[in-house]
Amino acid sequence: MRIDVLTLFPEVFEPFLASSIVGRAVTSGLVEIACTNFRDFTHDKHRSVDDRPFSGGPGMVMMCGPVFDAVEHVSRGCEVEATKILLTPQGERLNQRIVSELSRDSHLVLLCGHYEGFDERIRLGLRPREISIGDYVLSGGEAAAIVLVDAVVRLLPGALGHEDGAANDSFSDGLLEHPQYTRPRTYRDMEVPEVLLSGNHAEIEAWRRRESIERTRDRRPDLLKESDGPNEHP
Ligand code: ADE
Repeated sequence: MRIDVLTLFPEVFEPFLASSIVGRAVTSGLVEIACTNFRDFTHDKHRSVDDRPFSGGPGMVMMCGPVFDAVEHVSRGCEVEATKILLTPQGERLNQRIVSELSRDSHLVLLCGHYEGFDERIRLGLRPREISIGDYVLSGGEAAAIVLVDAVVRLLPGALGHEDGAANDSFSDGLLEHPQYTRPRTYRDMEVPEVLLSGNHAEIEAWRRRESIERTRDRRPDLLKESDGPNEHP
């Protein structure tokens, strides 16, 4: 997979792209990630990427020129059309289903906005998929792009470095993940549940499933309604 991140602040991504699971996926060649600065596609002496809105009001708007040119630059020579994604609080809310869909694409181009937003013709001309990471407003799309890249890259086969990969993650089957324990068996009078020490794999599997359903009912009953309904999770 290739991911191009278009941004005014490429330096924000450096430590993230070099660390942890994403860093390892980059080093091992599972994913190639490049950051491109919109400012490299300006032609005036101030290297302007934004201007005042025609409608008046406060704030600045990202201009068409540098955005179209940057997208065309990273798309040049690519046989398969990239999936263009604009990070915006007005987009569809990101969830694991969307992440999983995106993880099957071969080329993602992420557009991180700043200021009051993008000139509307960027939406009309590039027809990007618009994605929000939640109902709150960030000062730019960079943090949202980091969230998206992290969630997508960990789903690439081999990224997690163990065979089951992300199969047990919360949301992968519409449920939250069961609780986890590690050594020691007792910590400050709190015990690891007996069944986990039994070595009985069928019982442990049944425990995980029960805990997973109970946790989802407690914390996110909306997920049980959204997925396959309570009959599937007795
Ligand atoms: N840019 C600003 N706020 C955002 C959000 N909530 N999601 C995605 N991009 C954004």
